[in-house]
Amino acid sequence: MRKPMVAGNWKLHKTIPEALELVEGLKKDVGDKQDVDIVVAPVFTALNAVAKAVKGSNIAIAAQNCYFENSGAFTGEVSPALLKDAGCSRVILGHSERRQIFGENDDLINRKIKAVLAEGLDVIFCIGETLEERDSEQTMEVLRRQVVEGLKGVAAEDMQKVVIAYEPVWAIGTGKTASGDQAQEAHSFVRGMVSGIFNPDIAAQTRILYGGSVKPDNVDELMAQDDIDGTLVGGASLKVADFARIVRFEK
Ligand code: G3P
Repeated sequence: MRKPMVAGNWKLHKTIPEALELVEGLKKDVGDKQDVDIVVAPVFTALNAVAKAVKGSNIAIAAQNCYFENSGAFTGEVSPALLKDAGCSRVILGHSERRQIFGENDDLINRKIKAVLAEGLDVIFCIGETLEERDSEQTMEVLRRQVVEGLKGVAAEDMQKVVIAYEPVWAIGTGKTASGDQAQEAHSFVRGMVSGIFNPDIAAQTRILYGGSVKPDNVDELMAQDDIDGTLVGGASLKVADFARIVRFEK
């Protein structure tokens, strides 16, 4: 049985005081939830303050990105080791905004995944097709490429530290959430690929999250799908009541 995970990707939002206010509200509203892994991903500047605020709670901290070197002349970058030092247990990698806006390709994402795992941190590995790719019926080919290339060289024993997040780009920030059937089809395909790359047991234990306009009024339909093991939430994670309802999804 895969334990559900609900992760909030705060993207480029929240000063340190605002971040602390949000996470204090979450501790009150969902501090009792032990049957769901709850993760929040603040901006870098708020990571350590939020990590201190959630210490001892049921909320874990993720970073939204990192580089694959742990130190050196890499101006502007942040390393897995420094994120661990700041209180992170997990890193989101391969987000479509990193791919589309900042030009990250499969090879760079793969190097980051291996570096984060080598540091003993967990990974939320994002994949997803664009509207153009879906409309031209390339979705499964895109997902296959992203999974195969992203997980290249990842050891089977490290897969317990990898969560995959299927985020159709056309659903991110648009209000156009994938239907339960659309998401289930993609998740089932991804799980089948993990089985082929590794083995059926690893595929069965790998959590696959859905992301892309997850809201309180659509989370229950998504979570009713067999291969959806949680959600990666953007806009709705910035409001305590919305994120708390998504955490308290009803299966
Ligand atoms: O990483 C999650 C994010 O991309 C989804 O954003 O605002 O559509 O929930 P949103």
